[in-house]
Amino acid sequence: MKRVKIVDVLKSEDYGKEILVMGWVRTKRISKNVCFIALNDGSTINNLQIVVDVNPEFENILAKINTGASISVLGKTVESMGSGQNAELHCLKLEIIGQANPDEYPLQPKRHSLEFLREIAHLRFRTNTFSAVFRIRHAMTFAIHKFFNDKGFCNVHSPIITSSDAEGAGEMFHVTSLDLNNLPRTEDNKIDYSKDFFGKQTHLTVSGQLEAELAAMALSEVYTFGPTFRAENSNTARHLAEFWMIEPEMAFYDIHDNMDLAEEMLQYLVKYALDNCSDDLKFLTKRRADEQSQKPQNQRDAMSLVERLEFIVNNKFERLTYTEAYEILKNSKHNQKGKFAYPVEEWGIDLQSEHERYLVEKHFKKPVILTDYPKEIKAFYMKQNDDGTTVRAMDVLFPQIGEIIGGSQREENYEKLLSRMDEMNIPEEEMWWFLETRKFGTVPHSGYGLGFERLMLFVTGMSNIRDVIPFPRTPHNAAF
Ligand code: 4AD
Ligand code: MG
Repeated sequence: MKRVKIVDVLKSEDYGKEILVMGWVRTKRISKNVCFIALNDGSTINNLQIVVDVNPEFENILAKINTGASISVLGKTVESMGSGQNAELHCLKLEIIGQANPDEYPLQPKRHSLEFLREIAHLRFRTNTFSAVFRIRHAMTFAIHKFFNDKGFCNVHSPIITSSDAEGAGEMFHVTSLDLNNLPRTEDNKIDYSKDFFGKQTHLTVSGQLEAELAAMALSEVYTFGPTFRAENSNTARHLAEFWMIEPEMAFYDIHDNMDLAEEMLQYLVKYALDNCSDDLKFLTKRRADEQSQKPQNQRDAMSLVERLEFIVNNKFERLTYTEAYEILKNSKHNQKGKFAYPVEEWGIDLQSEHERYLVEKHFKKPVILTDYPKEIKAFYMKQNDDGTTVRAMDVLFPQIGEIIGGSQREENYEKLLSRMDEMNIPEEEMWWFLETRKFGTVPHSGYGLGFERLMLFVTGMSNIRDVIPFPRTPHNAAF
């Protein structure tokens, strides 16, 4: 007989049928002559209740079944008398597939701390919280491809190994096959990368943007969706050394078209989650509410998770320039009372997450898109404004998260791009291919990068980025 998934069993109202299910035991409860097993197979957050008669046929098997064991059950579906679910399964045949020794199995039917679960990331998929998070992660992945596909965008696979530093921040991991204990040297005692695998120095990419730009100059509208790597030593709840980024790049788009697309995409993705992940979101909303109730009153969320998601779908984002935001921050009571860890003084400062969140959560109380940042704090490829001091950058700021998207209109003028690269000491000879797109049929174009895990933080209401990617990579941590 073919196995049926629990999500389908619970949906069906076709009772009295014999079916086969398989899964992992969440709890086992024996009362009088019956045993209730809560079975989960990951197809839904909901468990299927298995009802087993405690008779000589089943007694021995039941004794060996504990939380975490995998079992197979052939049974008859009956309408559940309990509240909440439709069907339960009356067991006719019960088999253990794999036992779990209760003295060793670390997951028990109680709440474990997220910190503890990070240490057993190989098993944390089996908890309600993480199975919900990773089902939503899948749904968001699918929704991203659907969104762009429906709009006629072309998915481009940008390389993971690269020799260029797209963001110019120098936060790259080296890729080499050289023997680190016996490095080849040039005459002036530098490492001789001509002897390395690629014949030059290479790194893991920090962004697929530059390659996406090349593709957009022919395919018009493209996007990448892949892993990116940053060797920045920021041990925060919002940074990973390995994270996934979605980078659309569009020919003939100016910064306004770019903002419109980013806003439409974020609203689409959040709505997709609301429409398609309701059971998981219901669970995570309750989880977040429980977590919030442990906090002092003035630090609690004003909205529940689902309310916050609905708010994003139903409200337009606020758009303003960096300079306008700077004025708001500088003149805020918060700043004047010295409440920012990084006080807002001189124009030109890089905004910290506390500033971004102040704008979003306290001042505007909705998502914000900031544009026209000082050129000194942004990457070389951004389109220069006529004022000579700002560039056509855009950052989308979200409640709880701060920056969720960074992007810009690109500098399409060959001379201007070249002179900016000069100023920033970006070697022209390494970037000849990027420059050539501005020489041959250049067009205005724009793009942005959405941090996938930052989106996941927002949609799931989890607080730490380590809890929305299966196996987080952070400073001093590459376990599993
Ligand atoms: O602002 P960033 O650095 O922009 C770029 O990389 C551009 N090349 C994107 C583009 O225009 N195509 O990064 C984009 C987004 C950020 O807004 C943030 O959401 C996420 O990537 N991000 C990180 N997420 C997790 N961990 C990190 N260390 C991150 N660094 C950036
Ligand atoms: Mg950024």
